[in-house]
Amino acid sequence: MRYLTFALTKGRLASKTLDLLEQVGITCEEMRDKNSRKLIFVNEELKLKFFLAKGPDVPTYVEYGAADIGVVGKDTIMEEGRKLYEVMDLGFGACRMCVCGPESARELLHNNQLIRVATKYPNIAKDYFYNKKHQTVEIIKLNGSIELAPIVGLSEVIVDIVETGSTLRENGLVVLEEVCPLSARMVVNQVSMKMEDERIRKLISMLRNVVSEGTSH
Ligand code: PRP
Repeated sequence: MRYLTFALTKGRLASKTLDLLEQVGITCEEMRDKNSRKLIFVNEELKLKFFLAKGPDVPTYVEYGAADIGVVGKDTIMEEGRKLYEVMDLGFGACRMCVCGPESARELLHNNQLIRVATKYPNIAKDYFYNKKHQTVEIIKLNGSIELAPIVGLSEVIVDIVETGSTLRENGLVVLEEVCPLSARMVVNQVSMKMEDERIRKLISMLRNVVSEGTSH
């Protein structure tokens, strides 16, 4: 039996993924060690490998088949636009992609004005403004602390993730429009889905049972 390889998103998503996998009897204790600098972990008994990657790289590993399976946020899947199968909503990491800004920017979204939009997600922002709203905007790519942009006058609005809403509140910004809901998803390489059909289907079905149990309580 060959190894089935998982690419997990470093950080909170990886730890929640490990919690979920544990519930279906898949463990990888070694991976829990926060002090370890190790990047790849093996469960010899189940013939599974796990590695940790930066979120935006997970779809890349999966598209090229370096990983059979990935766990990554829907935001990253949409932004990266890789060829892969999105097979399951894992339920955790729930948040929303939103257009945010000061309340005063709300009217700028209705009058088809040329505004600047700062974001870590230029493809999602482009798709939303160009294809859904048919508003021509200038997209400015940033790499973090996106909320700064409208405060210091770099842009009128931002497209960013809102989870609890604290970052917005503490910086005098509000949600102006919702782009889409987000959560962690399981993705599968298109060839692996055929070659390892049985193992992957079994895994999906076990995970579905646990995830749906979790949401029905
Ligand atoms: C994310 C996001 C928001 C914040 C939203 O940033 O970009 O800034 O979390 O969470 P909240 O609604 O619970 O406040 P992250 O912490 O990942 O860091 P970043 O600014 O470097 O993107």
